[in-house]
Amino acid sequence: MQERLKELQTEALEKISTAADLKELNDIRVSYLGKKGPITEVLKGMGKLSAEERPKMGALANEVRDSIAAGIEEKQKRLEEAAVQEKLAAEKIDVTLPGRPVKTGNHHPLTRIIEEIEDLFIGMGYTVAEGPEVEKDYYNFEALNLPKGHPARDMQDSFYITEEILLRTHTSPVQARTMEKHEGKGPVKIICPGKVYRRDNDDATHSHQFMQIEGLVVDENIRMTDLKGTLQVFAKKMFGEDREIRLRPSFFPFTEPSVEMDISCKICGGKGCSVCKGTGWIEILGAGMVHPNVLEMAGFDSKKYTGFAFGMGPERIAMLKYGVDDIRHFYTNDVRFLKQFSIHE
Ligand code: PHE
Repeated sequence: MQERLKELQTEALEKISTAADLKELNDIRVSYLGKKGPITEVLKGMGKLSAEERPKMGALANEVRDSIAAGIEEKQKRLEEAAVQEKLAAEKIDVTLPGRPVKTGNHHPLTRIIEEIEDLFIGMGYTVAEGPEVEKDYYNFEALNLPKGHPARDMQDSFYITEEILLRTHTSPVQARTMEKHEGKGPVKIICPGKVYRRDNDDATHSHQFMQIEGLVVDENIRMTDLKGTLQVFAKKMFGEDREIRLRPSFFPFTEPSVEMDISCKICGGKGCSVCKGTGWIEILGAGMVHPNVLEMAGFDSKKYTGFAFGMGPERIAMLKYGVDDIRHFYTNDVRFLKQFSIHE
């Protein structure tokens, strides 16, 4: 009996040492230490032993059982530890690997130009005003000294929705609306960016939908020289300190006198080249002193108040600033084109 117990011990310890995983180890536990295991079986024969031998055999049996249990426990610890190590190795992260770049978008070049212009004027005390793109004929034309049938309406071929409602052809109606809100009290100092629409055939320099940004100042004692000084600051800030401006007489029904502003050509320095069509100057915007009729229609006393206004196309400004040769690039939104204006790369 003693031998049989020793044998079982050796056999079990050997199996434990070769057990490859926790499941196998558990099977060993069940088969050796379980109630129907061989040790229990051996002990059933204890009855045949003498009273002297019986406690000795009992002690041996306990010893064998304990050593198998200890062996299993030890092995279990090692197997568990190995499993943790294996898991750690499999889940190892190489923190030195380069990351995957996150693709970021960027502002549309027109948005950038508009924000730049807005900032510049905000810095001079202007506030940003906006108005509807679907506009009343009254604000788009009549309040701007363009009564029905006025020939100058043809300058801005329009998309009419009804007889009285159209897609605004310029941002000047925001002037009329803002002045009206001021109820005859100055000062008014606004910059209005927005989309406008004209019935034009799209080509390299025309688009049926484009942007404008308009400025308006109304107060007492506003003079032409204020307009000129303002435009000069704008041109130099926008295009460079070395740029000169030139005002040419022009016509707009809502301003009197009216001017168009040119800036000196940067490419040729004024000598004349293909960009400035040999003139040394590039047309940038329209402007003028607000027509007294426009002031009066918006509720301002034109004897007390005067004002100036100017309007320009951000596309044209962007084309000149960035050397873009086709206005349609701004609207077809080819990512390769847009990416060039990213500030992130
Ligand atoms: N609204 C004019 C246009 O679209 C531009 C302009 C604005 C001219 C303000 C003078 C003053 O052509």
